[in-house]
Amino acid sequence: MAQPRGQFSSKIGFLLAAAGSAVGLGNIWGFPTQAASNGGGAFLVVYLFLAFILAYPALMAELTIGRYARANVITALEGLSSNSSARRAGQFVGIAAVAVAVFILSFYAIVAGWMLAEFFSPLAAKLKATNVELWLDDTSFTRNALVCGLMSILTAAIIARGVEKGIEAWSTRLMPLLFAILLGLIVYVLIQPGAMSGLAAYLIPAPSQLLNPQLILSALGQAFFSLSLGVGTMLIYGSYLRDTDNLPRMGVSVTLLDTGFAFTAGLLILPAIYVADARGIAVFSEAGHLIAGPDLIFQVLPALFDSMGSTGSWVAIAFFALMSIAALTSAISLLEVPVSVCVERWQITRPTAACLSGGLIFLISLIIVWHFETLFNAVITATTVYGQPLLGIALCVFAGWVLHRHQLLKELSQGHPEIEHTLFWKVWPFYVRFVCPALIILTFLQSLR
Ligand code: PHE
Repeated sequence: MAQPRGQFSSKIGFLLAAAGSAVGLGNIWGFPTQAASNGGGAFLVVYLFLAFILAYPALMAELTIGRYARANVITALEGLSSNSSARRAGQFVGIAAVAVAVFILSFYAIVAGWMLAEFFSPLAAKLKATNVELWLDDTSFTRNALVCGLMSILTAAIIARGVEKGIEAWSTRLMPLLFAILLGLIVYVLIQPGAMSGLAAYLIPAPSQLLNPQLILSALGQAFFSLSLGVGTMLIYGSYLRDTDNLPRMGVSVTLLDTGFAFTAGLLILPAIYVADARGIAVFSEAGHLIAGPDLIFQVLPALFDSMGSTGSWVAIAFFALMSIAALTSAISLLEVPVSVCVERWQITRPTAACLSGGLIFLISLIIVWHFETLFNAVITATTVYGQPLLGIALCVFAGWVLHRHQLLKELSQGHPEIEHTLFWKVWPFYVRFVCPALIILTFLQSLR
């Protein structure tokens, strides 16, 4: 028997859930380090520009399709037209989106698990459980499998509870906590010697970098990943919005929250790197580049925390709690993509669907951990460099070409009766039809050269 569809109970509930999905490791780790290695303030300027000019219209495409169809990504795209080839194309794109969401979650849960391990390790040290601490610090297969399993169980447990009691309730609890921890850490780091050079490196743009194609491409990829686009997460969250909610305004708020959070995270990470530098910790590679990849999070920052004495271990606990929470609220949105398909297309109950999908994704994570060298980066590249932008184009095409103008207008005017007279309506439909797909293709082709 069909189960009643969930719905967000309030605007703020939706905003915190969508921001929870958007704000993740991509904001706290990806954005600041990309900014650091790509011209500092120049990256920030380009990123903000692309987030509003390209990612926001694409986000609107997903939210609108979702609320119009009120269904999971496959059923939604399939049902936009009665034409049989459009239906088949919709089904194909929907299945691809679910697959990409599943694979993103499979690597995301591994990284999120590392964050949990780093969170528990200083706690174990405080409790003088030296064996546990050593085990948590050692990157063994068993440790990686266990912490990833723990993250997967937390994610599935929240999703099993449904939209209002699971996604909304937990995002509403965790997002303010996340912001409070971030602000506390920023204040602490900014008063350390060296922090100001970090701020300068982050905020002063190198104008010569502004038109660098590599920088533009990285900023676009970052904007798409950060706003959780192309895999149906925003589509499914949009499908749980009430008819009375104003979609363009919700979209702007989510984009502002996401970019605002990324910007604020930069105020923590960049100064922290320079504080580490001032304390004699190596933060530049031999070639003179800033250490930005996993080594930054798992070596440079822990070395910095160690050098801060007993306060340092509390700072470490707070920092990795920040990372784990950010990862968890994004992971739940990724798991909701396959779970909504199981519930709506195969009438599986939500708790069973959460266990089955979560279990399957955990198995994929285990395979990745097992063949880490060959699989980890390959899965990240396949899903985020190719999958997300290509699916992003497809979703814009569905919103712009398959849905008719009058259907779009009807959907958007539900929460905003005057929409026809707004700048948004004058620009967006044209934009999502032509400009977004063309610009995404262009940047994508650039990346293949
Ligand atoms: N937006 C998340 C982040 O910044 C990652 C994510 C991508 C979540 C795609 C859902 C879908 O970390």
